Amino acid sequence: MLNYDVEAERYDATRGGVPRAEAAARAVLRLVPDGARTLLDVGCGTGLVTERLVRPGLRVIGVDASAGMAATAVGRVGRAVVLGDSRQLPFASGSLDAVSAVWLLHLLPDAAEVVAECARVLRPGGVFITTVDKDAAHPADTDVDALLAPHVIPDAYDEAGAVVGWAAGHGLRPGAETSFTGHGQGRSPALTVEKVRAGYFASALEFSPRQAQGVIDGLSALPDQHTPRPDPVYRLLALGKDG
Ligand SMILES: C[S@@+](CC[C@H](N)C(=O)[O-])C[C@H]1O[C@@H](n2cnc3c(N)ncnc32)[C@H](O)[C@@H]1O
Repeated sequence: MLNYDVEAERYDATRGGVPRAEAAARAVLRLVPDGARTLLDVGCGTGLVTERLVRPGLRVIGVDASAGMAATAVGRVGRAVVLGDSRQLPFASGSLDAVSAVWLLHLLPDAAEVVAECARVLRPGGVFITTVDKDAAHPADTDVDALLAPHVIPDAYDEAGAVVGWAAGHGLRPGAETSFTGHGQGRSPALTVEKVRAGYFASALEFSPRQAQGVIDGLSALPDQHTPRPDPVYRLLALGKDG
């Protein structure tokens, strides 16, 4: 996983900024049940999405394991942000109406533990809302993604079937589903070369040094080096806790 303490400084500028955050927050809110009074945003990052999870009567709290990311979130969301690990949430069992996790599970080899912990803090009737299949949102139908596709690690940590299976083990049943556009996440060849070199894809792609060089050479030969390809669309699932 990237070092998010370091990443914090450039995170918003490189992850689609406000347009992506607004799209993600609107999608989460579509899945938060009417009447919910508490929403915990797990892996809240810089709080750019969290601060947009606004609805009358809804109190939103963020939690993140990175001090750098959480410090930025505090500037946006105030004291409703806590430093903590999603595998050991500092909340009582059955205490929350909704929990969201946007772009978190794909990073974690122990994503099953996070699902269990989110289920624990939800009250009966509460809802866990999470992105799934994040990296599959880049289908291999652009020239850039076609070069990366052979190196995609199978069995992503946030594979939808696996997430639904773990959730079922903790009394969470699949409910509604929605999606949001990853504004600014379409890949240009030049930026993708930089990201391959920087190890940005560590949780999604696997290359030997030689394969990485082959990908870099292929990307460098593509036309329109600085033109991003179309934005991906991300999947968001709601899993409701048995009442
Ligand atoms: C890709 S960012 C997503 C941030 C935010 N949800 C968004 O959509 O902008 C992933 C975040 O998860 C946090 N994170 C990683 N592992 C975590 C863990 N075990 N518990 C809590 N947060 C974690 C990282 O620090 C980072 O801020």
